Amino acid sequence: MTERPPRLATRVVHGGGAPVTGEPVVTPLVQSVNFVEAIGSAEGLRYPRYGNVPNAEQVQRRLAALEGAEAALVLGSGMGALACAMLALLRPGDHLVASEWIYGGARRLLAEELPRLGIDVTLVDPTGARAWRRALRRETRGMFLETPSNPACRVIDLGPLRRLAGDEGIALVVDATFASPINLRPIEHGADVVLHSATKYLNGHNDVLGGVVLGTASYVEEVRQKMILWGQAPDPFACWLLERGLKTLDVRVQRQNANALAIATWLAEHPAVSRVHYAGLRDHPDHAVASRQMSGFGGMLAFELAGGGPAAARFLKRLRLIRNAPSLGGVDTIVSEPRYTSHAHLSPEGRAAAGIPDGFVRVSVGIEAVEDLIEDLAQAVER
Ligand SMILES: Cc1ncc(COP(=O)(O)O)c(C=O)c1O
Repeated sequence: MTERPPRLATRVVHGGGAPVTGEPVVTPLVQSVNFVEAIGSAEGLRYPRYGNVPNAEQVQRRLAALEGAEAALVLGSGMGALACAMLALLRPGDHLVASEWIYGGARRLLAEELPRLGIDVTLVDPTGARAWRRALRRETRGMFLETPSNPACRVIDLGPLRRLAGDEGIALVVDATFASPINLRPIEHGADVVLHSATKYLNGHNDVLGGVVLGTASYVEEVRQKMILWGQAPDPFACWLLERGLKTLDVRVQRQNANALAIATWLAEHPAVSRVHYAGLRDHPDHAVASRQMSGFGGMLAFELAGGGPAAARFLKRLRLIRNAPSLGGVDTIVSEPRYTSHAHLSPEGRAAAGIPDGFVRVSVGIEAVEDLIEDLAQAVER
């Protein structure tokens, strides 16, 4: 009988190898950028920019075990991960089809920077396989999407896209930052490459900047070569903090899932709220896909205030416990208005067309007592 792999809640603590007798229970921080080398040999050369120092290797093994990937690479930021993943996948003359519902920085990298390198990018509405199929060309090498998407929390069905990518022999690249591996493991659904901003749920404490690329060992090695040359590696301390943060990923995300569902349900009943974006709600258009594809609906949600931009400004000023801050995925509940953060580069009309009208508030739900969170929201939302 083959042994069953440990469950996710165990893998976040022990995945990728645990210490043996005599070794410390906690991975020691090796904050050295230089390592003594064998004389007369290039073998075993260690350097943080190469992604092969002890704290990087330890957390990379754990992340690969969590996602069910052959290999993982930790980089200096989520944007560094996306950039190096694309540099390893695409050459001048190649074409990428990407979802238009993505983080604003990712959109700028794909739509503004890649074309400068001779790489064409077509942005599509990601909800139906037909739009993806229509955008494909002979030179297409990859399809890229986020699920759930930032900031509208739409859940994209990976089933049809996996079949399309398989038929065409191209790579399906999924940024699953909003889900974390507790709620979604895209490789189980046919993705070839998984990306995360580790700054968000993976670390979970708003104190580390990092990114992750996961996939086959040969592809991850190509990404590593790009990371080395484009200088996108993390510091050993960031890797150490990330490994420590990962140990509580399962308990954090389970609480965040439960808190977010309670808050979304409460918001949906409130007369000052015109719309709630959370696939955990039964009447959400992505509820069926999310129920099939995800193990939990996640800690990210968004809502629209009927009073638009001015109502959102008043709401944010009245909040006492919940803070207005741009990042996400941490233990503290925070809110932000994408019109001032991730989507500030778009015009109001452009944002409205992207489903982010003024009055749209994104919530990254934390691990606090949900009663306190709802009380704070209740005193801040206008009757
Ligand atoms: C879905 C998603 N991917 C990638 C990034 C970029 O990550 P980082 O800020 O760590 O570079 C973000 C940042 O907000 C994001 O929301």
